[in-house]
Amino acid sequence: MLAIRNAAAVAWELWSERRFAEMARRGGGLFYATRVTVGLRRDLAAPCPVPAAKIPLAVRPLQDADLPHLFPEDLRGLSRKERVELATRRFHLRAGIPTCYVALDQRTETPCYMQWLMGASHNRMIQDTFPRRWFPELAPDEALLENAYTPAAYRGQGIMSCAMALIAERAVEIGARRVITFVESTNVPSLRGCAKAGFTPHLARIERRALLDTIRLRRFEPYDPALHARAERVR
Ligand SMILES: CC(C)(COP(=O)(O)OP(=O)(O)OC[C@H]1O[C@@H](n2cnc3c(N)ncnc32)[C@H](O)[C@@H]1OP(=O)(O)O)[C@@H](O)C(=O)NCCC(=O)NCCS
Repeated sequence: MLAIRNAAAVAWELWSERRFAEMARRGGGLFYATRVTVGLRRDLAAPCPVPAAKIPLAVRPLQDADLPHLFPEDLRGLSRKERVELATRRFHLRAGIPTCYVALDQRTETPCYMQWLMGASHNRMIQDTFPRRWFPELAPDEALLENAYTPAAYRGQGIMSCAMALIAERAVEIGARRVITFVESTNVPSLRGCAKAGFTPHLARIERRALLDTIRLRRFEPYDPALHARAERVR
């Protein structure tokens, strides 16, 4: 039922924006689609200068007072896609998996970025919260950095690149030597941000969906840019 409601909302949005080619492509995807998500990794022992953002930033764990800045109550001005992005982060927050970090705009102390850094001790919570084979089990010296989000008004100022590099460094505090993250192969801003924060592709999560998402199969395989660029058929 949810899949049908989502499909109808997307169809209406594409129709009203006259994006007919995308509508036809997505329509086909309701019956069969392959989605490729890139797994990226950073070795914390390898030197990686923190890229400078256009505004002064500092990172720290999220506090309750940050929530109204990151999760506005009034969603009316936001696109459907943006509301979905926020709902995903709200879901992650409610799951209570530590630790959500924020970056603060130091000119005003306003939170302008969030992302979760999770360690192997939270493997059980991670596997119970997210769909099957969404994330691999973390090795004892591995951390997972997920659900990056920069509010729209702050985008394009190098905040993700800088904040992600700073938050990744915090992984040593939970005993990690490597940090991994997953990004959809079509999410160019996020892939670029990850690259600047020192992350390189090493894994691909292949998801095959069929019949209105009633069938979903996922597997991980070593990343091959040529192969995985071809495998992405429907978005
Ligand atoms: C992805 C996201 C976190 C990037 O945040 P940001 O603070 O704007 O990122 P940055 O300013 O550091 O930009 C990262 C790179 O993406 C590029 N970029 C930004 N917007 C872009 C766009 N619309 N198209 C292409 N590239 C874009 C930037 O130019 C930069 O690359 P460069 O430094 O080589 O020029 C933000 O767009 C966002 O929150 N999106 C919605 C949620 C999401 O997709 N999260 C990632 C989940 S894995």
